[in-house]
Amino acid sequence: MKIVIIGSGYVGLVAGACFAETGNEVVCVDNNEAKIERLRKGIMPIYEPGLDVLVKTNLAAGRLSFTQDLSEAVRDADAAFIAVGTPPRATDGHADMKYVYAVARSLAEKATGDLVVVNKSTVPVGTGDEVERILRAAGRDIRFSVVSNPEFLREGVAINDFMRPDRIVIGSEDEWAREIISRIYDAGAFEGVPILQTSRRSAELLKYAANAFLAMKITFINEIADLCEAVGGDVRDVAHGIGLDSRIGEKFLNAGPGYGGSCFPKDTLAISKTARDYRVQLRTVETVIQVNEHRKRAMALRVVDACNGNVRGKTIAVLGLAFKADTDDMRDSPAIPVIQALQDFGAIVRAYDPEAMDNARAILGNVEYVNDPYDVANGADAVVVLTEWSAFRDLNLQKLRSRVRLPLLVDLRNIYDEEAVTEAGFEYWCIGRKN
Ligand code: NAD
Ligand code: UGA
Repeated sequence: MKIVIIGSGYVGLVAGACFAETGNEVVCVDNNEAKIERLRKGIMPIYEPGLDVLVKTNLAAGRLSFTQDLSEAVRDADAAFIAVGTPPRATDGHADMKYVYAVARSLAEKATGDLVVVNKSTVPVGTGDEVERILRAAGRDIRFSVVSNPEFLREGVAINDFMRPDRIVIGSEDEWAREIISRIYDAGAFEGVPILQTSRRSAELLKYAANAFLAMKITFINEIADLCEAVGGDVRDVAHGIGLDSRIGEKFLNAGPGYGGSCFPKDTLAISKTARDYRVQLRTVETVIQVNEHRKRAMALRVVDACNGNVRGKTIAVLGLAFKADTDDMRDSPAIPVIQALQDFGAIVRAYDPEAMDNARAILGNVEYVNDPYDVANGADAVVVLTEWSAFRDLNLQKLRSRVRLPLLVDLRNIYDEEAVTEAGFEYWCIGRKN
């Protein structure tokens, strides 16, 4: 099949490389000229494990190409995937659809033949109808069909998630479009993956519902962690114990500083806004949003507590800036409000992250960035872990201890074993543990 993917970000680029790998002819389009130039040379715009090799291999094999020119890309294509951003609109928190609709208008003008248009971006219910209206309004003698095919990949493990998803959702009432999408998700390459055919609206809605549910699960365990600290208990044991119940499941029960990233915060907000538009109130989701917002500042206060109630003039060494491990993505990272709050309280913040420091510099200007996880701790009054990079788990804690001024380790990701940390001479603060 010949596929065009519009938007070469975290989702578009991964989808493009994976669809090429599974034997399709893929053209990735982006309106960012510098990004396309670099991608043509095999230089990745993001850090995503395994992506550079996959892109380079498929570029070399001639199955994958990059262009800014949508007219050229869409010629003779069977399907065009829209994978542009749907960020929250600053004024009201609704998903900003201007990028999706701009692509729809371009496709309406530039398509050369019958085309299945696939919304892979996370979009509010009814977006498929509007994209279809835009395509039809151009009055072209072309058969367009709009499908919702939401993406469930996680950053950091995106290729595996894309190639071996828990399910593929195809939201369409049109037999022709369903057939094209089913052929793209070739049974050989995606063998054994359940394919769920739904209406377009159900597909659009279930993507938001999935993210809201996962955000709720994390928020729930974060509150249980607070309770463990208050009454005694270990949230890791509680999470394990409840997770063994197959109705609950063990995944996404790691307590931490609150969920972040480019998706859960914006998608919980967007689904709650959509619901209110339809006079439905999603009280659980609205509460999750509030609890998660509150938690990030509370995490900064935990660092203040660990520092005897005062961080003014103290140097805090931060390990980890990205919103999760194995990505350079800083969008809505919990590290941002935590660091800003510490600075508000008068702390001097120094930070190290294996991949996210370039992106962090654009957001957190007044932080001293250090290129080594031990050097960041030199003379520090406390070390704070904000991202669960495995490289941090493997640190030599004695060596880290030898660098600090005060041996205080605040682990907001629960990555260390208390015994090992205290043996190294640190006072240890973590999440959801009190014996
Ligand atoms: P992104 O910001 O990384 O990438 C979007 C890309 O689209 C950018 O490179 C931008 O230059 C390009 N673009 C914007 N307008 C364009 C146009 N008119 N023509 C060509 N290119 C254009 O976004 P992302 O993180 O990949 O997310 C894309 C969508 O997928 C969002 O709706 C998001 O919610 C959803 N999603 C994201 C993830 C994730 O892990 N990031 C996972 C599942 C779903
Ligand atoms: C999330 C979903 O997991 C994907 O299925 C979805 O496709 C994607 O959003 C999206 O729609 O864009 P992602 O944001 O890449 O993926 O990363 P997650 O692994 O879900 O982590 C999100 C946040 O939750 C991170 O801040 C992470 O640290 C936090 N988290 C996750 C926890 O605090 N505890 C957990 O147990 C799991």
